[in-house]
Amino acid sequence: MRTQVAIIGGGPAGTLLSHVLRRAGIASVVLERQSRDYVLGRIRAGVLEWGSVEFLRANEVGDRMDAEGHVHDGTRIAWAGRDSFYIDIKKHVGSQFMAYGQTEIQKDLYDAGDRIGTEIVFDASDVEIHDITTGTPHVTYSANGDTARVDCDYVAACDGYHGVGRPTIPHDVLRTYEKVYPFGWLGILSETPPLPDLVYCNHPRGFALASMRNPMLSRYYVQCSLDDTVDEWPDERFWEELLIRLPEDTRDEVVTGPSIEKSIAPLRSFVAEPMRYGSLFLAGDAAHIVPPTGAKGLNLAISDVYYLSRALIHHYERADDRYLDNYSDMALRRVWSAVRFSWWLTLLLHRFPDQTEFDQRAQEAELEYLRSSHFAQASMCEQYAGLPFET
Ligand code: APR
Ligand code: PHB
Repeated sequence: MRTQVAIIGGGPAGTLLSHVLRRAGIASVVLERQSRDYVLGRIRAGVLEWGSVEFLRANEVGDRMDAEGHVHDGTRIAWAGRDSFYIDIKKHVGSQFMAYGQTEIQKDLYDAGDRIGTEIVFDASDVEIHDITTGTPHVTYSANGDTARVDCDYVAACDGYHGVGRPTIPHDVLRTYEKVYPFGWLGILSETPPLPDLVYCNHPRGFALASMRNPMLSRYYVQCSLDDTVDEWPDERFWEELLIRLPEDTRDEVVTGPSIEKSIAPLRSFVAEPMRYGSLFLAGDAAHIVPPTGAKGLNLAISDVYYLSRALIHHYERADDRYLDNYSDMALRRVWSAVRFSWWLTLLLHRFPDQTEFDQRAQEAELEYLRSSHFAQASMCEQYAGLPFET
């Protein structure tokens, strides 16, 4: 098989890339290790920056998002059992954000792919990348007991943290940066009406977050120990803990109910540099992980695809490689900015096991500064809303 861009991984990054390329008349094949149902069954992020919203709309995959997503002007923060305060993103930076689940975006992308004819091979195992520095790379994989080969111009590794793309870059070229946080988030989905706003809470017993997927689907999280297991958190314990941590002004509004999903995710930051090696480009979780606190993981995957698709379109349509050559630097500037923001918000809102009284008071002073300062709020809003894409 011959194509222009071989894409490894059919998550949001890989499917969005193939969709945007297809609309520009550029051929690609997506190789996804899992089945379509498996990918659609994963519960992931749920907050879209406005730049992400506009990119999805521009590529005609935004209709259901616009019909079913919930547009927010701002978000709430609370600490130490006080009333929450509202961070008005629209007022400070003129931008809004959208609550719409990654799972729904994934479904919209697969459905759009069916309509416009993107090629996705599901259950593709043993994917290997070859000859990435020769200018004539190829990818091999197994499906239905046969081995297949895809010859291509470029390989886009959109295969997440555990994929094969990043390890293809030689050790002496690849630099990685990692920070592991000493706690996890226990998250549940419940078919109950959510609170009207997202509420981020710093409580002596740990962080909590109230979020949403749709008018009858709530998403809640509590900070937990990395040693905890889901079995140790029956629904009653989860709700009890959540209600203790939420501020009094929102506690009474929470509607509890049975969970339909419950999982624990560790928190960490990870960045791999460069995001290009020869004809290989990394995008999304393959190159970077952020803790979910800043809601940036999905948005970074989308901005990588924005930069990479523009670069490939300029290459094929105009024989202009400027954006391909800049891809790694440009994407990494945005990545590090989101990594910094997610790290800052994680430090601000969580209780750390080794936190001293000094750390505690400094954290409270920072929360008080955020509550009372127009400038501090504007700075947070600029980052939460998402920086504009570079031209
Ligand atoms: N071969 C083929 N496919 C692979 C391989 C492989 N060796 N390894 C991983 N994959 C697939 C996974 O099954 C997955 O479907 O690559 C896909 C990667 O998708 P995601 O993990 O969703 O990553 P990405 O598309 O970059 O989206 C990032 O996902 O994890 C969240 O917070 C993150 O919201 C962000 C988004
Ligand atoms: C979510 O809804 O899953 C969510 C929202 C905001 C975050 C993280 C996760 O910061």
